[in-house]
Amino acid sequence: MTTAPYDLIILGAGGAGLFCAGVAAQRGRRVLLLDHAASPGEKIRISGGGRCNFTNLHCGPDDFLSGNPHFAKSALKRYSQHDFIALVESHGIAWHEKTQSGMSLGQLFCDGSSKQIIAMLLAECRKGPGDVDLRLSTRITDVAKTGSGFRVETDGGRFEAAKLVIATGGPSIPKMGASGFAYDLAKRFGLNVIAPKPALVPLLLPPDALNPPLAGVSTLCTAAHGRRKFTEAMLFTHRGLSGPAILQISSYWQRASDQPVTLDLAPGLDLLAELKSAKAAHPKQDLATALARHLPARLAADLAGRHGGGGRMADLPDALLARVAANVKQWRIQPSGTEGYARAEVTLGGIDTAELSSQTMEAKAVPGLYAIGEAVDVTGHLGGFNFQWAWSSGYAAGIVL
Ligand code: FDA
Repeated sequence: MTTAPYDLIILGAGGAGLFCAGVAAQRGRRVLLLDHAASPGEKIRISGGGRCNFTNLHCGPDDFLSGNPHFAKSALKRYSQHDFIALVESHGIAWHEKTQSGMSLGQLFCDGSSKQIIAMLLAECRKGPGDVDLRLSTRITDVAKTGSGFRVETDGGRFEAAKLVIATGGPSIPKMGASGFAYDLAKRFGLNVIAPKPALVPLLLPPDALNPPLAGVSTLCTAAHGRRKFTEAMLFTHRGLSGPAILQISSYWQRASDQPVTLDLAPGLDLLAELKSAKAAHPKQDLATALARHLPARLAADLAGRHGGGGRMADLPDALLARVAANVKQWRIQPSGTEGYARAEVTLGGIDTAELSSQTMEAKAVPGLYAIGEAVDVTGHLGGFNFQWAWSSGYAAGIVL
């Protein structure tokens, strides 16, 4: 039997677990950090196209979906995007903001590689005065409450500590070692779990709504569901739609999948007025050419084809132009599903926030048990918000552990 004198055990060495471990160790705690993967922070490594979109300048509570929209406020305030940016800078990591047509998206990426963020988190774990014992490739076989804390059985021995942190994330991208372990464990301790669903995920369209020739075409779009709107790029795929605008709206559609999604493929443009003025100025032009001034050529040609092929603008009645404009500005889609966990960036739902203290992430009914990161029912928009939640919730627990 291996029993080391640890103050706490953290399950999962992803962004939240690593960050929490560093914060606790810098407060003198002896931390055991366990993960079944062979390397820590694998999702950090692959994130942001290898450059990790590590936070967002504009991060606020409204950027998160949760059963309790107020839950994330306290943690986000106590450890904000500005705190994380200061940490990144203190490690000499150069970063840049991604913009869209000159507009600030607030998304911050490493200039170099996402591996710099992992190296930074590991360096923070080594700062002391406490200690982080990181054990990788370790299979957790059982977790139980003891009289004085928690016992974790693994294929590398048995460990005990007064406090236990669940930081094993959600089940998105199972081939990277993601699992529903956090939910099973939470339920074992009597905590409620909000049904998880894939989020930030490409949407599937029914076969009759698919348009294979458009696969690969990308265009700016405003995707709306209820009162939520996102104006970003959209991509036609062989099975449906993807791109940032679609991933963003997928999280809302997944929550209430009965309502359609509305797409405006010419955001900020009075397309009918543009088509009427094109008709007056260039009467010999065809519809596809007129549309291609505002849309990708393949999409313009496809739309023109759906409205009788076009012909000269001069011969097209305004009523037809109005129908074309309405199709572009208010395309209503009813997705048939999503690409699922295999392609989802995050998981919606998770450990019910009603079970946790928003100040410390400790389970109200199980003293000493904490849950942080994606395992909790707090899901960020696309754009660095999910990592900010990992840092903020990891800090909230790390500072009290
Ligand atoms: P995370 O999943 O990172 O870590 C959980 C850890 O627990 C993993 O190391 C895993 O191996 C381990 N684990 C799981 N089950 C276990 C078990 N049974 N036993 C032992 N260990 C176990 N977000 C963002 O803000 N900016 C971005 O650029 C991106 N980009 C991005 C790209 C892709 C492809 C994906 C899939 C996701 C993103 N995200 C993102 C989302 C972001 O990666 C995610 O929200 C955080 O990694 C969540 O951090 P956690 O530490 O909570 O979980």
